This record gives sequence, structure tokens and C-alpha cells, in this order.
Amino acid sequence: MATKVAEAGTGPSHICSPISGKDKRSVLRVGHRKKLVLFSIVCLVVAIKVLLFSLSDTSVPQERLRYFQHRSIQPAELENAIQYSWNLSDSSSGHIPIRPNPNLDQMDCPAMLRGEEKALQYSREYMQRNEPTRISNEDFIEQTKDCDDFRRTRGYFSQPLSKEEADFPLAFSILMYKDLHQIERLLRAIYHPQNFYCLHVDLKASELTRQATERLAGCFPNVFLSSRSESVFWGHISIIYAEMACIHDLLRHDWKYFINLSGQMFPLHTNRELVKILQLYNGANDIEGTFKRSQPLWLKVRQMFSWRLVEFLDTMLITIFPKSIPPHNITIYKGSNQVAMSRAFAEYFMTDQKSQDIVSWFADTLAPDEYIWPTLNHNPHLLAPGSYSGDPEVKPFIARVSIWLPLALQVNWSWEHWDCQGKWVREICIFGVGDLPWLQQRPELFANKFHSNYEWLAYDCMEQLIFNRTIAGDKISFDSSYYQSLPFVNDPTLVVRP
Ligand SMILES: *[C@@H]1O[C@H](CO)[C@@H](O)[C@H](O)[C@H]1NC(C)=O
Ligand SMILES: *[C@@H]1O[C@H](CO)[C@@H](O)[C@H](O)[C@H]1NC(C)=O
Ligand SMILES: *[C@@H]1O[C@H](CO)[C@@H](O)[C@H](O)[C@H]1NC(C)=O
Ligand SMILES: *[C@@H]1O[C@H](CO)[C@@H](O)[C@H](O)[C@H]1NC(C)=O
Ligand SMILES: *[C@@H]1O[C@H](CO)[C@@H](O)[C@H](O)[C@H]1NC(C)=O
Repeated sequence: MATKVAEAGTGPSHICSPISGKDKRSVLRVGHRKKLVLFSIVCLVVAIKVLLFSLSDTSVPQERLRYFQHRSIQPAELENAIQYSWNLSDSSSGHIPIRPNPNLDQMDCPAMLRGEEKALQYSREYMQRNEPTRISNEDFIEQTKDCDDFRRTRGYFSQPLSKEEADFPLAFSILMYKDLHQIERLLRAIYHPQNFYCLHVDLKASELTRQATERLAGCFPNVFLSSRSESVFWGHISIIYAEMACIHDLLRHDWKYFINLSGQMFPLHTNRELVKILQLYNGANDIEGTFKRSQPLWLKVRQMFSWRLVEFLDTMLITIFPKSIPPHNITIYKGSNQVAMSRAFAEYFMTDQKSQDIVSWFADTLAPDEYIWPTLNHNPHLLAPGSYSGDPEVKPFIARVSIWLPLALQVNWSWEHWDCQGKWVREICIFGVGDLPWLQQRPELFANKFHSNYEWLAYDCMEQLIFNRTIAGDKISFDSSYYQSLPFVNDPTLVVRP
């Protein structure tokens, strides 16, 4: 910019008497020097702000924890309590939605799922020639003007598909920021009228995204936006607050298990299979936790000092204030970030005093979302319902799964028998069509991650697979042996039931 101005200033002389090369260089140098000075000033300001930040008060904003105040949840008092009355005989006599997908007309998904190279190659060529279909926020706002029509054309289920499922409702939270089109497809894949879905729209999301999401939710009695929205930052307690916002609202309804999702996930099982698996869990939580792997200093420092969020840098910063000893004599466990928790555990998490103290203590640590639930789940003396009293580090009975508790929820990227066939983004595999044969036989409940614009036929085929399996219902047998061998299923005495 400065250079341009300087050059413009010499414009007329440029025409009359061309500037020598030497002059040009000095003009440029002046420009660079100005940039350098400007840059230094910015750096100085940032450094001062950062310093002030790290010296500032680090006490936990108590009012953020107000969700804990709902000590007793009275389902009856709830304004939008939803009453469903299902006519189960209806569901066996039709009500199967139709989900046309023109892109799949030319695709052989079963062959792709079997890993047949010809079919995979054809799909890759197809993806090079065609763009994925995408519903924009504006389209959602338009299409949801007539909800009946929207639900029908998008092919949502309108009846529970079995009594077993109707009697075992599930609750989901989805944290979102953008890409409503992919979230709507995830919702459609897991949507059943007896379940409950809480969408947390980030405060930073655009007004249009929020509006379109509201309209989408408005078409379903059991889908809603969380009554409170957080601005979510990586590594910051705001992730937990966002989950709490959803769990708080979800607890107004009747369900058995809670699963939190992000928009890039996709189910590997049907609702019927999820219900069968979670019934086997019988109140136990599926929350990974490890003590050993949380011991390196670079991880321990996350709880050794108080951390602050520096919003304008979008980062967490360590301060000079050491943290106190954690409350209630807890051992801190770290886990991967996928969970299935029983309703009793969710209630404990939201209302128990010890749980409140622990969340407060973690509030100014780094990445507390990776610790709070694993810690509550592996300190049996806290008496959190469904928590685990066995040794978290002990290997389970099936040698293949060498980390203790199942990662029943999230696919293990580094699994030695499979290399990512998609692409790696920040150490996570973004699945491609080549991953389909592997994905369709995984025991985990959900797979992370799909990008709807990368090798997008993988997503389309997964949709078709789960949809077909959902329709097939009982006609497909379900092998529960993997789940039965999970330590907390295999040995119920290790599960805390206060
Ligand atoms: C349920 O549907 C069946 C057939 O559609 C009908 O005969 C029956 O009366 C319905 N039951 C109720 C409680 O509505
Ligand atoms: C589920 O919640 C945990 C704890 O807040 C969080 O770390 C994790 O990122 C969430 N998972 C997803 C998929 O959003
Ligand atoms: C704290 O927990 C450890 C084991 O984790 C136990 O040995 C110790 O007695 C406990 N201390 C108190 C005060 O409860
Ligand atoms: C994940 O993959 C790693 C690397 O192969 C393996 O050691 C580990 O046991 C796997 N974890 C699970 C839960 O399968
Ligand atoms: C799903 O069912 C349709 C219709 O029967 C069939 O054409 C398609 O190949 C099936 N796809 C999968 C993945 O099973």
C-alpha cells in the first residue's frame, strides 16, 4: 500500500523522466520500512495485551455454571413437553419414506461397500465430473415453509420402527457452527420421532445459519435449538458449557442414553442397533479414560497452571498462576471426546455438588472437555451412576482392542489394519470412498469425519447403507458379541450403581 502511494506520487515524473532503477529500489525500501514499523507496533500491542491477560484475575465466572442450579428436573412442568402416541401397527404397514438421490442412480453402492475397484474407480471419475448436491441456508428457509412437505420430500421417518425402539428413546446433542446442509443429513440419518435432538448453534455462527437452523428444528417436535448459546473455542470450557446447555434442555424429556455428536460424524449403525447396544450397556457409560497417557508433562501442564482464553487470538494462554489441588480427591483421567452416557449420569453431571465443584475447578484449565467426563467416570468414590470401578488401563479380553474401554463410539484412525483412504487433516482421516469397505463393518457407533464436499459419494453411500439397514429392521441379524465382551458389559460388578 505504502509502496503504491509512493509510486503513484512519482507518476508524472515516471512519464516525463523515467525513474532510475536505484530510485525505484529506495522507494520500495521506504515502503518496507513502514510495514516493518507497523508490524512491530502490532506485535508490541499484542504482547502487552497478552501480558495483561496472563496477569489478570483468573477466577472462574460463577454465573456460567448456572446450569447446575436445576437441582430437580420436573418433567411435568415443562412448557414444551412433547407427548407422542404411536400407533405401532401403522409402522409395519407402510410409512416408509422415499429418499431419491440422483447421484446414486449410476452408482453401485453395494459394490463400493464391498471394495470392488471398478465401482470405486467409476465413482471417483463421477465425482470429478460432478458437484455434490448441497442445500443452502436460503433453500432450507424456503423449503421449511411447509413442514409436512419438507419432512416428506426429505424422507424423514414419521413413526418409530419398532416397539423396542419406541420404548428406548435416545438423546443427541450436535454442536454446530456452519454447514447446516451436512448437519441436516446427519439429523435425517439418525432421526426417529421418539428420540430428542438438541442443536447448539455457536454464538459466532451467522444470523442466516441460526435462522435456517431454527426453521429446520421448527419442523419437528423433538428437535430444538439449545435455549442458551455459547461462543465455543477450542481448548476452552465453553465446549462443556455448550454440552451442558443441551443436556439441560434434553433432561426435560424422557430418554435413556445421551450421545454427543459433531456435524462431521455419521452413524455406522441403525437406531435399532444403537438401542440394542445401549440396552446391553445397562446403565453403564461408554466414556474412555486413561491415567497413564495423560502423564507427559506437556499434558500435565494443562492442569498445573491456570489458563485464559484470549478471544481475539482465538487461543488459550497459560498464566503464571498455579492451580490448586483438584477437589474431592479425584484422579484426573483423559479421554477421547466421544461419549454415550446414561440418563442417571447426565443428571448427576448436571446436579451433583461434587460434579459442580469438579467442573468449576476445571474451568480455567486447558481442554477441560477432554477430562471432565472421563474423570467423573473413573473415580468410583464419586458414586457417579454408571461409572467404572475397574482398572481403566487394563487391557480387555479381546486382544485386538488394546486400549481398555471400547472406543465403541469413534473409529480408531491408527488402527493397524487400515490406512486412511481419504485424506488426513490435522491427524484425522477424512473418509473417502475407499474407506467404505472398512467402515461398514466397524463396531463403533459413529464415524468421524466426513466432509460433504470431499469424496462425497462416500457419504451418499453410507446414507444409503444405513437407510436400507433401517428399513430392513429385524430382517438383518445383529451380532452383539463385540459389545458383550466390553469390560463394563462383561463384568457388571465393575459398574457403579449408587
Ligand atoms: C392403529 O392402526 C390400525 C391400522 O392402521 C388401526 O386399526 C387401529 O385402530 C389404530 N390404533 C389406534 C390406537 O389408533
Ligand atoms: C462431546 O463432549 C465432549 C465433552 O464436552 C467434547 O470433548 C467432545 O468434543 C464432544 N464430541 C463431539 C463430537 O462434539
Ligand atoms: C484419596 O484417594 C487415594 C486413592 O486414590 C486414597 O488412597 C486416599 O486415602 C484418599 N484420601 C482421602 C482423604 O480420601
Ligand atoms: C488403535 O490403533 C492403535 C494402533 O494400531 C492400536 O494400538 C490400538 O489398540 C487401537 N485402539 C483401539 C481402541 O482399537
Ligand atoms: C439399498 O436398496 C436399494 C433398493 O433396494 C438398492 O438399489 C441399493 O443398492 C441398496 N444399497 C445398499 C448400500 O444396500
